[in-house]
Amino acid sequence: MSSCEELCRGWGPCAPSPMLLLSLLLTASPLGLLGEETRQVSLEVISDGLDPPQNLLHIRAVGTNSTLHYVWSSLGPLAVLLVATNTPHSTLNVNWSLLISSDPEGSLMVLPKDSIQFSSALVFTRLFEFDSTNTSDAAGKPPGKPYPPYSLAEFSWNNITDSLDPATLSATFRGHPIRDPTGAFASGTLALRVQAFSRSGRPAQPPRLLHTADTCQLEVALVGAIPRGNRSLFGLEVATLGQDPDCPSVQEQRSIDDEYAPAVFQLDQLLWGSLPTGFVQWRPVAFSQKQGSRDSAMPCQASPLYPTLAYLLPQSPIVRAFFGSQNNFCAFNLTFGASTGHGYWDQHYLSWSMLLGVGTPPVDALSPLVLGIMAVALGAPGLMLLAGGLFLMLGHKWQSEYQSIN
Ligand SMILES: *[C@@H]1O[C@H](CO)[C@@H](O)[C@H](O)[C@H]1NC(C)=O
Ligand SMILES: *[C@@H]1O[C@H](CO)[C@@H](O)[C@H](O)[C@H]1NC(C)=O
Ligand SMILES: *[C@@H]1O[C@H](CO)[C@@H](O)[C@H](O)[C@H]1NC(C)=O
Ligand SMILES: *[C@@H]1O[C@H](CO)[C@@H](O)[C@H](O)[C@H]1NC(C)=O
Ligand SMILES: *[C@@H]1O[C@H](CO)[C@@H](O)[C@H](O)[C@H]1NC(C)=O
Ligand SMILES: *[C@@H]1O[C@H](CO)[C@@H](O)[C@H](O)[C@H]1NC(C)=O
Repeated sequence: MSSCEELCRGWGPCAPSPMLLLSLLLTASPLGLLGEETRQVSLEVISDGLDPPQNLLHIRAVGTNSTLHYVWSSLGPLAVLLVATNTPHSTLNVNWSLLISSDPEGSLMVLPKDSIQFSSALVFTRLFEFDSTNTSDAAGKPPGKPYPPYSLAEFSWNNITDSLDPATLSATFRGHPIRDPTGAFASGTLALRVQAFSRSGRPAQPPRLLHTADTCQLEVALVGAIPRGNRSLFGLEVATLGQDPDCPSVQEQRSIDDEYAPAVFQLDQLLWGSLPTGFVQWRPVAFSQKQGSRDSAMPCQASPLYPTLAYLLPQSPIVRAFFGSQNNFCAFNLTFGASTGHGYWDQHYLSWSMLLGVGTPPVDALSPLVLGIMAVALGAPGLMLLAGGLFLMLGHKWQSEYQSIN
């Protein structure tokens, strides 16, 4: 609570009691999370025994009435399938010999088929690098002259089994380009850390996205790769399945600026359909240091989603396997950093996080610190009003419960 104490000093008189009262109030109030509150999460690596390993990571999150399946794979470009079913008993079925064949259609199934309520996929297709010298940082402006992109379909990945951590329900894909003539990735890695959750919470690391048991987090980190210019910006191309004829929508939400995400007033989300649906959610911020902080924060810009011809994108066998070949793809670009300020060039480090899930995306509530500051700003009369209102409200509730018992 050191930052809190500092704030208190800045705000003048500050008794601990209002803070305590308000944090109690906050913990007592429901978070308003929909969906299943807890899930039994298991991580399973489905291996083909080939070298280099082409692993499938199956995350199965079982709730009372539903199961979420996340299937992450480094077969082709790194991709994830998200399948939500309305039974706690649905299973994933994989036929490896068919999956690695030239026509993988039908080799990956979630059964029973009629339990599927929602399914879609994300494919991480290309890593871009731009020369941002002489470019302006105005929003919507191109990030600079592009260098030849790195195709994530031509990456070599680690054996995911070695990074599997059942305690944190996480695993990390670490990869580097198979062909690396300039040696840029000689000691560099692109790491994608996947983490599932059995209940709601918030990680210690910024941007501290609020997660629920209905979500899975991806943290993308580029570490140690030698940039091709002095002011290189990196970008990631993400493809997804659209519903005919539209692409999923991307929404920008104003968000509360608080201790969890200082100076980030926005929450971006991609929604596949009308609510409740599948979603991707992220804060438009990336970090140039492992210890993400306000000092190492960089902007993250997302381009609009556009329909894309499938043959222009590296193809994902797991997407073909599950959805077949007749698909509408939509793609967008994320760009991390700006030509000025902090950048990848500082420490050859860059990280960015997102949540993938189904249902209603988690929404931030006011944090105890912000409520505390409000309480101090309102002062004692405001608090008394608040307490009075609460007393009336609860009194009324008790009264009505008492009556209903009668
Ligand atoms: C991955 O590692 C695990 C445990 O270290 C091993 O059992 C498995 O055979 C490896 N898979 C491949 C494809 O090398
Ligand atoms: C599960 O389904 C049953 C019957 O449809 C329903 O009564 C119950 O509220 C559901 N539970 C949850 C957690 O959705
Ligand atoms: C996997 O697919 C191949 C090719 O279609 C088929 O011959 C084989 O029987 C399948 N294996 C299983 C276990 O279903
Ligand atoms: C940037 O602009 C300066 C002045 O206009 C020019 O001399 C320089 O070559 C430019 N650099 C790049 C990388 O385009
Ligand atoms: C990078 O900066 C150094 C020193 O400022 C300069 O000598 C070099 O030409 C620059 N390289 C590029 C690719 O702009
Ligand atoms: C992403 O940016 C690259 C480089 O500017 C461009 O070639 C590609 O078409 C963009 N992709 C999308 C989906 O906008």
